[in-house]
This record gives sequence, C-alpha cells and structure tokens, in this order.
Amino acid sequence: MSTDQNKFQAIISHCKEYGFVFQSSEIYDGLSAVYDYGQYGAELKKNIKDYWWKSMTQLHEDIVGIDAAIFMHPTTWKASGHVDNFSDPMIDNKDSKKRYRVDHLIEGHAETLSKEAGDALLAQMDELLKENDFAGLKTLIESNKIKCSISGTVNWTEVRQFNLMFSTQLGSVTDEASEIYLRPETAQGIFVNFLNVQKTGRMKVPFGIAQIGKAFRNEIVARQFIFRMREFEQMEMQFFVRPGTQQEWYEKWKEERMQWHLSLGTDPAKYHFKDHIKLAHYADAAVDIEYEFPFGFKEVEGIHSRGDFDLKQHQEYSKKKIQYFDTEINQNYVPYVIETSIGLDRMFLLTICNAYAEEDLSTADKQDSRVVLRLPAKLAPIKLAIFPLTKKDGLPELAKELMNDCKPAFHCFYEEKDAIGRRYRRQDAIGTPFCVTIDHQTKEDGTVTIRHRDSMEQERIPLSEVKALVLSKIL
Ligand code: GAP
Repeated sequence: MSTDQNKFQAIISHCKEYGFVFQSSEIYDGLSAVYDYGQYGAELKKNIKDYWWKSMTQLHEDIVGIDAAIFMHPTTWKASGHVDNFSDPMIDNKDSKKRYRVDHLIEGHAETLSKEAGDALLAQMDELLKENDFAGLKTLIESNKIKCSISGTVNWTEVRQFNLMFSTQLGSVTDEASEIYLRPETAQGIFVNFLNVQKTGRMKVPFGIAQIGKAFRNEIVARQFIFRMREFEQMEMQFFVRPGTQQEWYEKWKEERMQWHLSLGTDPAKYHFKDHIKLAHYADAAVDIEYEFPFGFKEVEGIHSRGDFDLKQHQEYSKKKIQYFDTEINQNYVPYVIETSIGLDRMFLLTICNAYAEEDLSTADKQDSRVVLRLPAKLAPIKLAIFPLTKKDGLPELAKELMNDCKPAFHCFYEEKDAIGRRYRRQDAIGTPFCVTIDHQTKEDGTVTIRHRDSMEQERIPLSEVKALVLSKIL
C-alpha cells in the first residue's frame, strides 16, 4: 500500500473518531455508499455550503437562489434525457454476479500498471467510450485479462447500459403512472422554474439561479469513502445567457470557479482543469475541476456549456413557451446555459484531505506528535475554544462570560477538564483555529493567552479583543 493510501485510510478513521463522518445505520452493519455526518462534520458541511451560497448569491447581484423539491413530475426526467440516457456501461462477472462500471473496472486495472501502460490503456478506453463501442470495451477487458476482485475470473457478460435513477411510487396505488424518481441532479429544479424566477424576480438575462440540495444515484461501484455516494448533495448554478455569448461566459465561469477554490488557500498545484473527452450531444464545451486527492486527481466540480437544450426540452414536453424577451435587442429567444456543478460531499472530502496533517513535534528530550486539521478558519466547525486554566478561583466564571459574549457571533467550545496541552490537541484534531486560556493573570490585568492552531504560537492579548480578532479571521 502506498503512503497516500495509508494517509487516506488515516483520514477516514480520523473522520469517524472525531465525529465528522459515520457510516449510515452502522449498528446494522451500514448501508453501502451512504454516510451520515456527525457533530463536527455537519458544522463543516454547513460552513462549506454557506461559503458557496454567499459567494454565489450575496456576492453576485445577478444570481438568486432557490430550493426546489426532490420529487418532480416524472416527465421532467423524460425531457431532460435521464430516463433514456442516464446510464453507465456496466459489465457483470458471471461467477461472482458482481456488477462493475466498465470505466471504473478498467481504471482500477490501469492503476496496477506502470504509468505508461496505464495511460495507454485509459486512452484506448476513452476512445471506445466516445464511440459507445460496447463490444470493443468487452474485448479490451478480456484482452487485458482484467479480473473480478471477488471471483478472480475473467468470465464477463456483455457490456450493457444501466440507469442510475432511483424510482419510487407516489401515493398509495402501485402502477406505472405513479412511478416517480428521486432527482439525480438538482439542475432540473432550476430549469423548470426558469420562468417563475425570471418573472417574479424581474431578472434580466444574463442572470443565474443557484441551488443546494440532495441528489440520488444508484451508483454501482461504491468506492473511496464519501467520494462516490448514493445519496449526496450538489451545489449547482445555472447561468442563463444570450445565445452567441456562451463561450465568453463559459470562460468567465471556469475562471471564477477556480478562483473560488483557491480563495480557500489551497495550493494551486493541487488543482487542474480537465476537458471532457466525450461531450454530451447538446454541450458546446465541458470541463472538470480536478483536485489531487490521496487517490489521485479526481473531479470535484463540472462547468458545462449546455446550450438551450434543457429549456427547449422542457418547452417541448410541457407544451409551455419558455422564452425570454430581450429588450436590448428586441428579440425573443430560449436562453443558453452555463452550468457550474459541485458536489458538496466531494468538497467536504477535499477540505478534510487538504487540511489533514500528521506532525512530528519531537525534541531532543521528548517524543511528541499531533494530528491537526489545518482548516480555513471560516470553514472550521468550532472557531474558538475557551479554557479556564483551573476549575476554581473565579476562572470558569470569566471564561463563561467570554463564551456568552462570543457564542451569538460564532461557534465556541468550552472545556475545563484535563491539562491544557491535551485540550489543545483535541481542538487541533477538529481544526479549531483559536484556543483561549483564562488564567490567574487574567484576573489581574484582563489579558488571556491565545494559541494559534497552525503555528502553535501563543500570545497574550486583552480579553476584550478576543471576539474582534476571531471575527476578523472568519469573515
Ligand atoms: N447537473 C450536472 C451534473 O449533475 P455531474 O458531473 O453528474 O453533473 C456534478 O455531477 C458534481 O456532483 C460532480 O462534479 C461531483 O462533485 C458530484 N457528484 C456526482 N455524482 C456523485 C456521487 N455519486 N457522489 C458524490 N458526489 C457526486
């Protein structure tokens, strides 16, 4: 196992041990590719959401946010193409009966080869996927002797398409007419509300509609922790533009989204763009923003130039005119769309992977180490930990006064148990950027020790300045 894989396993264990992520229904042995967020995970996730929402809506006067339902009229998914096309090529092993996504099976095998051989295999696969050449993909798997991880055999079925949408029944009657889907993306809730928002908000093209919400996909291969889940959240924005201007807006959103990622202080070398090889038939252009996870560069966000495909499809299937009258050019048209779509759970995983560090703090006379989450202060679940040095002499009272003053403004944590050093380490492990210790000197001169998570430096500052200092770092 490589060091990076060890690091990833350590991150998964850390997420569980410190209340970030638990396997869903763990007491019943869990549910594959479904996860729950614990007490600190839920805070971190919410902070990522808020950061995205604020940057998309509050900081863009031309973007508004909505919150559409998960259930939608089933024709939505006919119109969007998901009923007919939202499928992946799959292959089953006849001996183990295990089903694989063809690209994941081949990618998994490529990882076991030398870089050169792996890249060549992936290039062949990409070419066949682009051509929808299922027989060719099967031959590629067989000629490379790619085995099933369970049975160890190469006894494969034909490659077939498998739809990823979950369906359920609406109401009490079980018939085909009442079959509805759990949305596989949030985008369609935006498209079907285009006119509602445009008219009620008196929005002028170009403008955007943003949304955060759950999406569901019956992913066949559940791998890499919360990277690929069956129930996950997306943060999507559809930007509606005048036809002919889509290229310029696509470039602008590509740049803006990368800047958003970098604004969190991540090393730019950890990110790159990857153009889509196989464009959807309606797309002008599509690119992924990839991040270097411990298991390699993988997609976190997609930016897609979708043309007028979605609105036109809904216009056709609903038989309702979905057009915009552009007063600047005196023309009616169906706007074109640039989409930015990021997985919230993937962004969470990225944030944790990027922040996780194991540090050796040993000195000549003492062995020491710590695990620290170097989270951006604005995303940290707890912003300030407040520690009275002892449980007596009026120190807890002073500490609680500070707590009461700060907690309406940001999330604080109060603790009086254990040695200060151990209390610091626990906060390092959940990424708390600041710890304040109230000691006897506080009573004399009104100062406290503030300890900075990343440098571990401590300084004395007036108690009255703590709140403003933390606020200045988290806004
Ligand atoms: N509306 C466009 C759309 O849904 P996508 O590339 O299928 O495009 C967008 O998904 C983003 O959603 C991805 O970049 C990824 O971050 C996230 N995502 C997709 N499938 C996921 C899954 N099974 N688990 C977690 N996140 C997922």
